[in-house]
Amino acid sequence: MKITKICCIGAGYVGGPTMAVIAQKCPHIQVTVVDLNEQRIKDWNDPNTDNIPIYEPGLSEIVAEARDRNLFFSTEVEKAIDEAQVIFISVNTPTKTYGKGKGMAADLKYIELCARQIAKVAKQNKIVVEKSTLPVRTAEAIKSILDNTGNGVQFQILSNPEFLAEGTAVTDLLNPDRILIGGDTTPEGQNAINALVDVYANWVEKDKILTTNVWSSELSKLTANAFLAQRISSINAMSELCEKTGADVTEVARAIGMDSRIGSKFLKASVGFGGSCFQKDILNLVYIAKSYGLNEVADYWEQVIIMNDHQKRRFSNKIVQTLYNTVADKKITFLGWAFKKDTNDTRESAAIYVADDLINEQAKISVYDPKVSRNKMLSDLDYLQTRSNEENSNSLAIFDNAYEACKGSHAIAVLTEWDEFTTYDWKKIYDSMHKPAFLFDGRNILNAKEVEAIGFIYKGIGS
Ligand code: NAD
Ligand code: UGA
Repeated sequence: MKITKICCIGAGYVGGPTMAVIAQKCPHIQVTVVDLNEQRIKDWNDPNTDNIPIYEPGLSEIVAEARDRNLFFSTEVEKAIDEAQVIFISVNTPTKTYGKGKGMAADLKYIELCARQIAKVAKQNKIVVEKSTLPVRTAEAIKSILDNTGNGVQFQILSNPEFLAEGTAVTDLLNPDRILIGGDTTPEGQNAINALVDVYANWVEKDKILTTNVWSSELSKLTANAFLAQRISSINAMSELCEKTGADVTEVARAIGMDSRIGSKFLKASVGFGGSCFQKDILNLVYIAKSYGLNEVADYWEQVIIMNDHQKRRFSNKIVQTLYNTVADKKITFLGWAFKKDTNDTRESAAIYVADDLINEQAKISVYDPKVSRNKMLSDLDYLQTRSNEENSNSLAIFDNAYEACKGSHAIAVLTEWDEFTTYDWKKIYDSMHKPAFLFDGRNILNAKEVEAIGFIYKGIGS
């Protein structure tokens, strides 16, 4: 089958960039991205592509090239499903906040809604692609919903998980380490796999396109995220030991990373990993293992999350202890709120939890982040429901200039590794602060010797 029409349900951090790149690389395919969120679709259609709802380096240029040529953003979900041969499901799969599996299992209500909608609308055979990250064996549930429509339409379900990281989404999509496609071993399943392979083969070398059975593909995505997050928790665990022993975690990371069996990536000690997926996916893995009675497997992976929570709390405790055990009414400036640089995404950002801890200690927090809006920061704090929205807004002052944010503060905490922070005039910032002036570098991006020479009391992670 030759694919000429694709629909993607979900215009979020995955659906938007992924479909923009498919459309750019496959001008012969019409790609329609649909979402229930009208504002989000309106923003994707903003005539000025700098205003699209997701900030990713290089993305607005691709959208400018492909939009209204063969890339469309729409709220007409049913029409897009009806017209497409291939339907990608890229909706959110957050951790359940209610009922069985609360706080651990993935909430599949949005996935099920999509399956039901596809079942209702489809009049011709379709390939349904799981792009969202899903628990292993979800395809079984989707298939059961689709196969029981009674209208004779045949569906093939493929798993095609996405491995892009935010902040580098465009380069990750253009040059992926691999594309993974899982499908049924039947001839129909293999035909569906081949049809999707042909789409990616427009820009990805064939030997990078891996095909597997559906369950291996679903589980590989959770496994990849668990392994990546595990490396961060492992180095963060070492960072605490380094602080006690005089070892320097950056030196340790370099030393172990040169072992080709270990490798140098994902060994940056930090205030803790954030983002919408690592925690949710590991909790889901833990839940799945428990549901099969594999308690040792579950405990093993849960420790990655326990360590990450500890690292965030350890960072805020360190600020309080260093500031003579009280931060009440002290101004503490956060540089960065996003969960990593080059994104405006703040989901599960360590900054939110560190701010919450410090506000509990009655600190006054000032924040500067180059890409995150004021409303987003406040709603992140409100979401925790630790205190009233009014108290949050009285405790958080948001600036659009780092120098202003730092003026008169007792301490600065670097929460995101934005490149611009390394280019600042740190002497000027130091002069504008209360003395002694403290600098807590939650990302180890500043040169300790240089800022100490200015007069700062510098505390990195793991040294
Ligand atoms: P997101 O919240 O940014 O986007 C999901 C979108 O789906 C939202 O705009 C929502 O309105 C829409 N939606 C939900 N139900 C819908 C329905 N029934 N019909 C139409 N639209 C609907 O989420 P995301 O970050 O893009 O993540 C999506 C999935 O991809 C998740 O499973 C996630 O684990 C996975 N993933 C995310 C990343 C990442 O970097 N964010 C990377 C790889 C995989
Ligand atoms: C991660 C994975 O890297 C992607 O492959 C995956 O597709 C995605 O999750 C997903 O499934 O959503 P993402 O969360 O966007 O991507 O970003 P990462 O670069 O992995 O960073 C996650 C967090 O770990 C950030 O807070 C980052 O600052 C932190 N981190 C990363 C460290 O603390 N140390 C490191 O060495 C690397």
